[in-house]
Amino acid sequence: MERLVASGLHSGEQEIEASLRPRSLAEYIGQEHIKNTLSIFIAAAKARGEALDHVLLCGPPGLGKTTLAGIIARELGVPFRITSGPAIERPGDMAAILTSLQPREVLFIDEIHRLPRSVEEILYPAMEDFGLDIVLGKGPGARSLRLALPRFTLVGATTRTGLLTSPLRERFGITARLDFYKHEELAAIIQRSAAILKVQVEPGAAWEIARRARGTPRVANRLLKRVRDYAQVKAQGTITLEVAREALELLEVDEAGLDTLDRRLLSTIIERFGGGPVGLEALAAALSEDPGTLEDVYEPYLLQKGYLQRTPRGRLATKLAYRHLGKEPPGETNAQLRWFQDTSIEE
Ligand SMILES: Nc1ncnc2c1ncn2[C@@H]1O[C@H](COP(=O)(O)OP(=O)(O)OP(=O)(O)O)[C@@H](O)[C@H]1O
Ligand SMILES: [Mg+2]
Repeated sequence: MERLVASGLHSGEQEIEASLRPRSLAEYIGQEHIKNTLSIFIAAAKARGEALDHVLLCGPPGLGKTTLAGIIARELGVPFRITSGPAIERPGDMAAILTSLQPREVLFIDEIHRLPRSVEEILYPAMEDFGLDIVLGKGPGARSLRLALPRFTLVGATTRTGLLTSPLRERFGITARLDFYKHEELAAIIQRSAAILKVQVEPGAAWEIARRARGTPRVANRLLKRVRDYAQVKAQGTITLEVAREALELLEVDEAGLDTLDRRLLSTIIERFGGGPVGLEALAAALSEDPGTLEDVYEPYLLQKGYLQRTPRGRLATKLAYRHLGKEPPGETNAQLRWFQDTSIEE
C-alpha cells in the first residue's frame, strides 16, 4: 500500500498538493496559537520595514511546516527561496545562497537538522550579525574578511528538534511547535480541499475521513483523493458517509487511523518482542524499515495516541495497543511492565 504519511510524491501528486496549499494565514486552518503569535510578529516587522526574526518550525511530517514557511513570506510580501539541509553540501554553496539574498527575503531550509556541520557554522554569523566571514589566501599570509549580508529571515523546518545543535537552535528568535490537528480542524481542511478538487463531501463523510487522518493534513488530503476516486467509480461522485467508509476499508486504514505499517509495528513488538521494551534498531530490523523513518514518521502519532511508549530500555506496546489488535494485555500484576510504564520518558 502507498505510504500515506511519507512525503515522497510523484510529480502529478505534487501539483495537486501544491493546489491544496493554503496561501495566507487566514486560509491556514488550526494551529491557532502559532497563527496568532506569527501574525503579531509579521505585522510588527512590516510596520518597522525590517526583516522578521528567524523562525524555527518543528513537528512531525505533513503538519504544514513548508506551507507555513511560504505563508510567512507571502504575508511579509517578500521573496521566498526554498532549499534543504541535505541539498547544501559545502560551505561555498551556503555562501552563494546568502550573498544572493534580497533584503528581507525569506530563506527556507527544510530538514535543517541535516545541514553539514561546516555549512551550519557559516550560518551562525549570518543569522546573528548578517555577516559572512571569508578567508583570503592560505598559510601565514591568510586574511579574514567580513562581508555584510542583507538582513534576511531564515525559516528552518525540522521533524526532530532533538537533532538540532544548540548553537543553531539558540539563533532562532521564534520557535513554533506544530501539533497534531483536532478532528474538527481536519474535517474543515477536507472540506476546503474538496471544494478545490470540486467534489461534494457530506459533513459526516468529512468527519469520518478526518477521524482516520492521524491528525495530519497531508494524510487527510491523500485519503480524500483516494475516497474521491472510489466515489467517482462506484458512487456517482458524491462522497457520502457510506462511500467514505467503504473506500477507507479498501485502503486498510482502520477506525483509529492506523495503517498497515502501524499495526505491523505494534504486533511485531507484541509478538516478536513480548510486548517490549525493544530498541529502535532491533524493531526497525524486524520490520525491514529505516530507523529514522520509524522514529520520524510512524512513532509520533502512536506515542501521542498512547499505543506506544518510549522507555529508557526501548519501545513498549501499551494495553491500548494490545486491545486495538484484539489481543489480551499482560496482567496488571506484571511488575516489570509497570516499572517501565512508570519510568517512561517523553522527549
Ligand atoms: N493548516 C493547514 N490547513 C490546510 N491545509 C494544510 C494545513 N497544513 C498543511 N496542509 C496541507 O497538508 C499538506 C502538507 O503540508 P506541508 O507539506 O506543509 O507539511 P510539512 O510539515 O512541510 O511536511 P514535511 O515534514 O513532510 O515536509 C499541504 O499540501 C497542505 O495542503
Ligand atoms: Mg515540508
